[in-house]
Amino acid sequence: MTSIDSSSKVSESFLKLVSMQQRTWLITGVAGFIGSNLLETLLLANQNVRGLDNFSTGYQANLEEVRKNVGGDNWSRFHFTEGDICSSDICLNAVRDVDYVLHQAALGSVPRSLADPLMTNQVNINGFLNMLDASRVAGVKSFVYAASSSTYGDEPNLPKIENRIGNPLSPYAVTKYVNELYAGVYARSYGFKAIGLRYFNVFGPRQDPNGAYAAVIPKWTAAMIANGDVHINGDGETSRDFCFVANAVQANLRAALSSEDCHNEVYNVAIGDRTTLNDLFNALKESLAELQIHYAKEPVYTEFRAGDVRHSQADISKAREKIGYEPTHRIKDGINSAMPWYVHSFHGETA
Ligand SMILES: NC(=O)c1ccc[n+]([C@@H]2O[C@H](COP(=O)([O-])OP(=O)(O)OC[C@H]3O[C@@H](n4cnc5c(N)ncnc54)[C@H](O)[C@@H]3O)[C@@H](O)[C@H]2O)c1
Repeated sequence: MTSIDSSSKVSESFLKLVSMQQRTWLITGVAGFIGSNLLETLLLANQNVRGLDNFSTGYQANLEEVRKNVGGDNWSRFHFTEGDICSSDICLNAVRDVDYVLHQAALGSVPRSLADPLMTNQVNINGFLNMLDASRVAGVKSFVYAASSSTYGDEPNLPKIENRIGNPLSPYAVTKYVNELYAGVYARSYGFKAIGLRYFNVFGPRQDPNGAYAAVIPKWTAAMIANGDVHINGDGETSRDFCFVANAVQANLRAALSSEDCHNEVYNVAIGDRTTLNDLFNALKESLAELQIHYAKEPVYTEFRAGDVRHSQADISKAREKIGYEPTHRIKDGINSAMPWYVHSFHGETA
């Protein structure tokens, strides 16, 4: 099977800057969607990378694809540990001699957390605290963690500004907010340096299209490629700030390497645009048509989904001003960049 270039296309000049100094990074959740994209970028930037994952929602195939994309020499700078962040010993071992931690491991999905709040709590709060504390004990330079736009909850104003949040609408949102609270306490109590990145609907290569908790873009794209039905929850006017994964990768690296006064903060990571589900449906259809895959069906509208916020759009000026984050891909650029990967990866399993 030929490998499709899914590299994150973080700006060349920034990557050059990162590659000038070899550092050691730990990526938790490295076999997942965002984690494996971070891995690919860091290995291509000449970095040493450790990875930790228990494969609960991640895949060996994601690591295999990164290995193919980066080549043997780069791959030799990667060391993987299969393990669970719910074990404090595993976290302590994983973080030894590490400069920077990019903590991605968690159980994502609002509906999953409504179905099993205890498990989401265990991984996203206890596991998070294990990694945070292990990183403090090890004296890492910086701890960057995956926070979430779900923390805005029922706050009605748009765009979303970091210091204005509402009540959480799901157990998942509670866990991500508790992460922020713990990071804040570690800053105040121990002088620990952490940065939370509130991701807004990240999408791109290696995001899982399967299962009840799949995200909308890979799920719909897989359905379109298989000529199946696309289900839209609600009237399709629900909107999101969809963020291509290269932007999230860039934000992680910039955050980790930012100066001390940028730490102990949370930053929105998005584009700053809002796309309705109806517009997203059409954008995916158009992008597939450019690859000669023509989807002619209308979407099937179903009930609104419990726990979902109606509209989401980020104000990204804080990340822009403080850590120098500048999205390289707007939503259509991201969809067009990801589409060859989707077609290549989903065609076999869905045809
Ligand atoms: N994708 C998004 O749109 C989005 C939005 C907001 C926040 N986030 C957060 O970003 C992070 C990465 O999300 P993703 O989309 O890449 O999801 P993903 O499910 O693809 O990746 C998560 C990875 O963490 C691993 N993991 C889960 N529990 C673990 C445990 N107990 N021990 C070790 N590893 C474990 C999984 O196996 C998986 O590889 C998560 O923290 C998620 O909550 C994602």
